Amino acid sequence: MTHPLEQLRADALRDIASAEDERLLEAVRIRFLGRSGAVSEWSEKMKSLPKEEKPIVGKLLNEVRAAVTAAIEARADEFRAARESAAVANIDISLPGTPGEKGALHPLTQILDRSISIFRRMGFALAEGPDVETEWHCFDALNTPPDHPARNEQDTFYLRDGRLLRAHTSTVQIRAMQAAAPPIRVIAPGAAYRRDEIDATHSAQFHQIEGLYVDEKVSVADLKGTLEFFLRELFGADTAVRFRPHYFPFTEPSFEIDVKSKAVKGGEQWIEVCGCGMVHPAVFEAVNAARGDSAYDPEKWTGFAFGLGMDRLAMILFDIPDIRLFAQNDLRFLRQFA
Ligand code: PHE
Repeated sequence: MTHPLEQLRADALRDIASAEDERLLEAVRIRFLGRSGAVSEWSEKMKSLPKEEKPIVGKLLNEVRAAVTAAIEARADEFRAARESAAVANIDISLPGTPGEKGALHPLTQILDRSISIFRRMGFALAEGPDVETEWHCFDALNTPPDHPARNEQDTFYLRDGRLLRAHTSTVQIRAMQAAAPPIRVIAPGAAYRRDEIDATHSAQFHQIEGLYVDEKVSVADLKGTLEFFLRELFGADTAVRFRPHYFPFTEPSFEIDVKSKAVKGGEQWIEVCGCGMVHPAVFEAVNAARGDSAYDPEKWTGFAFGLGMDRLAMILFDIPDIRLFAQNDLRFLRQFA
């Protein structure tokens, strides 16, 4: 004779097998394993069984509970698997993926970002000015007389209204001093324009980082220390830096700076990277006249200024042979900097 518990197991397994969805399966689970379900009822009945039957029925009850529990879990797994495969039914996982295009910053932007962060650490703030400038900001205020060759029509782009495309970013020195009294410590990255014959090293538009530092007792030693630090951060600690006397109308004394570094052409030659000098008193006077005060009293304040060629820095650091590559948008070139 089959024990009623065995009958119960057979009923349960049959109901589990024929449960058509998860909700019906849950109803079966409650009916057999729930707190007042058939299996639980048998646990209660156990208490009133004669002593000698208890071990036998208890063993059977455990087997039935285990079998029913396992069967319910297996059926639930089937439902879960079916749900998951239905979710991806329309996705062909054998198709190749769509690769994401990896972008990169333009080499000039990379040099700009690195340069800005080095000067930031030395306390320089960012300043800016327009590309289309007045002749006064570009030349007169910078102690550059009307007969200076840079003012020639062959050298500078003039607009019909007399304005021009700035020939250098030194215009921002003037704008920064017009806007704020000393002390002042700014850099101004931006484009500059010259009517150069375009070739591998000359472009009608190029980029500079202008710098200006005006305070009490600023000296050539400060200028030297600042630019040497900058160039060694950019080109490496082993970089040799050389200051050559030069001439600019708006600085006195003036210098050009050359670097020699293992990072550049194997350290074989000196490369010019920067023009700089101590701000000419005539520049302070021009600013005072425009401000209508004497904030930049040349007896009290001194300063240095510099102009770094950004395209040049990038060409040297990345070993780029032709300045025209920067503006041609050739992806074969640009991808190398990713
Ligand atoms: N403006 C100069 C140039 O373009 C560089 C320079 C800037 C020199 C500041 C001295 C001081 O060549």
